[in-house]
Amino acid sequence: MGEALHEIALTVNGVVREVRVPGRRLLSDCLRHDLGLTGTHVGCEHGVCGCCTVLLDGEPVRSCLTFAVTAGGHEITTVEGLAGPEGELSPVQRAFSECHALQCGFCTPGFLCTVTALLRENPAPTGEQVVEGISGNLCRCTGYQNIVKAVHRAAELAAEADATPARTGEHA
Ligand code: FES
Ligand code: FES
Repeated sequence: MGEALHEIALTVNGVVREVRVPGRRLLSDCLRHDLGLTGTHVGCEHGVCGCCTVLLDGEPVRSCLTFAVTAGGHEITTVEGLAGPEGELSPVQRAFSECHALQCGFCTPGFLCTVTALLRENPAPTGEQVVEGISGNLCRCTGYQNIVKAVHRAAELAAEADATPARTGEHA
């Protein structure tokens, strides 16, 4: 007899997606294989590397350690959902590009999700808080220096973006 399937609805990057999955289907596999969102990368598959990090109700989680069924009814943001509605890069994405914070890019989706959540929680982190905040994500290429720079740059870009409507308002 085949494994029982569970029907779940996930809101992924703002869109409700319905899938039928076995109880042991990992969220990473569900995103990549059932929903075709291959931007979420899978490295170690046991919670160590952070490549598979996505946001679950805004909080970073390792999708390789999360069963898809437990994400039913929740909001998921993957790397595909970080850009704006017109495809404009988010401050974190722009900063990673500007600061050359990636080489092969395999770890990048996980870093982008982690840093997005980090800066929402703490918009102006200290150097130590940045290092602590990204300590669960491994990168084999960059040596981390440019990633750390990118997090600080992303904080600046996000602060500028927040300040812009206020300035526009002053002159209205
Ligand atoms: S693939 Fe999930 S932590 Fe490495
Ligand atoms: S850029 Fe290659 S693993 Fe990070």
